[in-house]
Amino acid sequence: MLDAYLMEWGGMLLRWLHVITAIAWIGSSFFFIHLDASLRPAADILPGEGGRAWQVHGGGFYEMRKYLVAPAVMPAELTWHKWQAYWTWISGFFLLVWVYYAQSELYLIDPAVMQLSPLAAGALGIAALVFGWLFYDWLCRSPLGRNDVLLGVLGFSYVVAASWAFASVFSGRGALIHTGALMATIMTANVFFNIMPGQRKVIAALTAGEKPDPKYGKAAKQRSLHNNYITLPVLFLMLSNHYPVTYANSAVIPVLVALIIVAGALIRHFFNVRHADHAKSPWWTWAVALVALWLAFWVAMASSPGGRERLGLSPLPATKPVMLAGLQPPPEAVANIVSGRCAMCHAPEPSWPGIQIPPKGVLLHEPETIAAHARAIRVQAVMTHAMPPNNLSGMTADERRILAQWLAQGR
Ligand code: HEC
Repeated sequence: MLDAYLMEWGGMLLRWLHVITAIAWIGSSFFFIHLDASLRPAADILPGEGGRAWQVHGGGFYEMRKYLVAPAVMPAELTWHKWQAYWTWISGFFLLVWVYYAQSELYLIDPAVMQLSPLAAGALGIAALVFGWLFYDWLCRSPLGRNDVLLGVLGFSYVVAASWAFASVFSGRGALIHTGALMATIMTANVFFNIMPGQRKVIAALTAGEKPDPKYGKAAKQRSLHNNYITLPVLFLMLSNHYPVTYANSAVIPVLVALIIVAGALIRHFFNVRHADHAKSPWWTWAVALVALWLAFWVAMASSPGGRERLGLSPLPATKPVMLAGLQPPPEAVANIVSGRCAMCHAPEPSWPGIQIPPKGVLLHEPETIAAHARAIRVQAVMTHAMPPNNLSGMTADERRILAQWLAQGR
């Protein structure tokens, strides 16, 4: 019993940390992009100065001034903005390990896609992040990286192809979270391996009394630009695992990823341009982004089992349930309780009024799916009484006891 409590609480605490650090990182990154865009030339501009901006916040006025390469002398105190990025990645990586690798039978491995062992699934995920970053880094440094637009198109195709590869080995939600994790790893590695080392070299030159080379700033700028445009799509992918409508059908995952990147990057673009000059706000980006989101909605709906029925499309070919290697089907008494008290909501076509798709994608109508969700059943119906919600289907204490006995036998 303790292990399931531990997994739930650990997951909650890690997610808490991850959201806090991500807010700090993305918040400061949005702030600096806005600041850069709002700099204006000043009347008393100094040599090497790139502009000034005035801001008001929390009862005070701030005069911000940007130096193009670096100030003439090192300031006595300098605040760095890097730990927000590192901690977001560190907490995100541990959350990935905690939820997707330590509980891979529940979230990462879909035996109907590929019968992976938990170890193989985890190793595959981590290797994909490492090699995924190395490939992107190589692409940026190669001659192809000299053309920003070409590099953008290649990077986009690369991420979409990666989502297809993930969807061919992992569950739908596992594929989306790994696509997001790959993009987020690229963002953090850009800070760690590219942007920060460049800044350190500039500071070393300053301290040595030399003039810093502007090339470091330029190299960092390309990576910063990538980070800026992929921020919103990454956030969508990170949240997608809470919404089965986004991952119900693995076959369309690359299409959804492509549409979400287009929508997210365009919305970001709108603000990048608007913050520099309100008069130039590119309103067209909203129109294209909304079309992309609308298409994503329809593609997801038309490719999910429940959605097809509502649209009057022919049903998808029925897939035979596949039992994860090593799992035993539950005894009949257990299967009857679960299908009797849970499957009115947790079935491909729920019969409970108002519920049209199985909540959170959890299916509990067959022995195979009940066995696969044993751990989730323990958390929701034995350790806590979260399910059935408000005990709507009237589960008795005796029935919960029978479930507890089955779960105590280690499935
Ligand atoms: C009346 C409909 C209904 C019944 C009956 C029901 N559930 Fe649920 N279940 C839901 C809804 C709605 C959610 C989504 C809750 C949310 O969004 O947090 C859910 C979510 C879940 C989840 C996913 C939790 C998560 O956050 O990942 C599990 C597991 C689950 N239910 C198990 C069960 C079990 C086991 C039973 C029977 C003992 C059961 N449910 C009975 C409606 C139902």
